[in-house]
Amino acid sequence: MPADRTPEWTENDHANSSKRLGFAEIETLVRSFVYLGVSKVRLTGGEPLLRRGLPDLIAQLAAIDGIEDLALTTNGSLLARHANALADAGLHRLTVSLDTLDTQRFAQLSGGRGRLDDVLAGIAAAEQAGFTAIKINCVVQRGINDADVLPLLEHFRGSAHVVRFIEYMDVGTCNRWQRDQVVPSAQLRDRIHQRWPLRALQPNYRGEVASRYAYADGGGEVGFVSSVSEPFCGDCHRARLGADGQLYTCLFAATGTPLREYINHGEVALQQRIVETWVGRGDRYSELRGNAPEAGRRIEMFMVGG
Ligand SMILES: C[S@@+](CC[C@H](N)C(=O)[O-])C[C@H]1O[C@@H](n2cnc3c(N)ncnc32)[C@H](O)[C@@H]1O
Repeated sequence: MPADRTPEWTENDHANSSKRLGFAEIETLVRSFVYLGVSKVRLTGGEPLLRRGLPDLIAQLAAIDGIEDLALTTNGSLLARHANALADAGLHRLTVSLDTLDTQRFAQLSGGRGRLDDVLAGIAAAEQAGFTAIKINCVVQRGINDADVLPLLEHFRGSAHVVRFIEYMDVGTCNRWQRDQVVPSAQLRDRIHQRWPLRALQPNYRGEVASRYAYADGGGEVGFVSSVSEPFCGDCHRARLGADGQLYTCLFAATGTPLREYINHGEVALQQRIVETWVGRGDRYSELRGNAPEAGRRIEMFMVGG
């Protein structure tokens, strides 16, 4: 994944910005989603740890009655510096993106902007801060990092952390995706099973994006997100809110619904707009891939997270 280029903003900049939501606006929006039944919230990006004052936002969101799961996805580069503050603010769970343990490949995949040691130090700091069962997201690209899958598992086996292999997707318009770059989860699973036998686990809930497997020897859990080889549009219940207040009903959406202007119209109007957008959705990009009307025009991934 290309490294994020999100600039560092102060909260004041955000509040005054015509583009980005301030923390109070985000809280109002999240309260409306929670009122409508949302109980899981994930902060992603872009790189969320670049946002100054993020622990304050986390504390605001953690205090909302009805949020049962508050998670954050990060590239891990700044995690060592922020892990304690994230835990103190009330963050429940962490996902760290880590595509390889090979220093050179890491540098290549992060466009030379990240350091593997920083990410590993971030994971260690997060453990110290009390985060358990951290999810480690690895996007697998054929011929790039597929040889790094077993070493990654070897490293985290026996810990409570869960490595999840994600099929490389044609997100945004910049990654020059080709289908033959995708390593289907079934192939990976077979390869892993030959080294460490696996057994399938039941999903934790309907619509869980990763299929779960346990090492037969009790070494922990592995997940597979098979969005290309086994699309799960029918079960997708993710609403994505861009930092500018656009609501996207699909990771591959071409356009969003602007919600920011509704914040000042009161909660009822805001909630109505969210409901109208949500019930009107018909997205099934991953099922149609290539034949989808939006095939050539998609929101960039840094706008909507993973
Ligand atoms: C877009 S990143 C944003 C959050 C944060 N900056 C990070 O790097 O984790 C969120 C997740 O998207 C996933 N991702 C990025 N590019 C992808 C691609 N082309 N296909 C599938 N997943 C991808 C990665 O697993 C990453 O964990």
